Amino acid sequence: MAVRSATEALAARLRAGLTAAAGMWTDEPLARRTTMRVGGVADVLVEPGGEADLAYAVGEADRLGVPWRVIGRGSNLLVRDGGVRGLVLNLCRPAFAEIRVEERRLVAGAGVRLKDLAGAAQRAGLAGLEFLGGIPGSVGGALRMNAGAWESDTFRCVESIRVLHREGRFEDRPASEVPAAYRRCDLFRECIAVGAVFRGEPSSPEAVAGRMRELNERRWASQPPQSSAGCIFKNPAGIPAGRLIDELGLKGTRIGGASVSTVHGNFIINEGGATAADVLALIDRIRCRAREERGIELQTEVEILGE
Ligand code: EPU
Repeated sequence: MAVRSATEALAARLRAGLTAAAGMWTDEPLARRTTMRVGGVADVLVEPGGEADLAYAVGEADRLGVPWRVIGRGSNLLVRDGGVRGLVLNLCRPAFAEIRVEERRLVAGAGVRLKDLAGAAQRAGLAGLEFLGGIPGSVGGALRMNAGAWESDTFRCVESIRVLHREGRFEDRPASEVPAAYRRCDLFRECIAVGAVFRGEPSSPEAVAGRMRELNERRWASQPPQSSAGCIFKNPAGIPAGRLIDELGLKGTRIGGASVSTVHGNFIINEGGATAADVLALIDRIRCRAREERGIELQTEVEILGE
């Protein structure tokens, strides 16, 4: 069955089979679900109402051969202008957005905002999660890419994760059994992050709040406030991508509505009215210059989705 008609069949099944707690749209614009604010529509977008909805949607998509992807808060995501074929899932409904504090641990769903997780840790007097407070993503997205800042990363404070395997099985797994590296966790190519247990170190709420303020100030002093997808490239060995782009004289370079931030070279800004094609052309230009002038192969850090 061609993807288009299989997707229509999937939409019909999901409309009938998802619980009332779920949300579902067809031809849903994704630009407004990303911080970069560019890109086309998702054929079908589902916000599962809970774990049963999630397993059902993934199972039906696999049965019909419809490709599926999970997005989070869209803060590290570049959607191409042609949109995303098949099913896009977003775990943002209340069942995935709960945080529970249990002594030194925080149990959080994939849809919890990192800012809220860091805030809950602060109020509970738990240190070590402050760096997450300035990352505009969700727990699920942070697990998937092992998001980080200020010399820390997500898996450093994760004790266990909860995942959904393709065949419909949920599993809680110790983080020590999950290989994670710089901005990378390959497990999530095959399964979906549903939640995690984070661990903090006992401290005072005031001390944790002070550290969060300090990191926030550092962030606002070094990163631009406009619409972006965070850092565009991973840092290559030897030089941070932002410094490299700065040294190449590319800050301020503009293509259409997209430009390289004048504040931080590794951010591409949507000045308003940018298309994904503008952003991709700018990425290409930067990669060419880095290759030609320094022999450095820059790898994108943002997830690029769609056609
Ligand atoms: N620099 C320049 N010019 C620039 C930008 C940076 O010379 O235009 C220099 C800075 O002065 C500094 C060095 O490059 O000496 C590194 O810059 P920065 O401290 O801003 O850190 P970064 O390596 O560019 C990383 C993460 C950020 C995270 C910050 C803060 C990556 C790709 N980026 O940036 O993460 O917020 O550290 O910890 O690892 C993201 O992942 O989207 C992201 C923004």
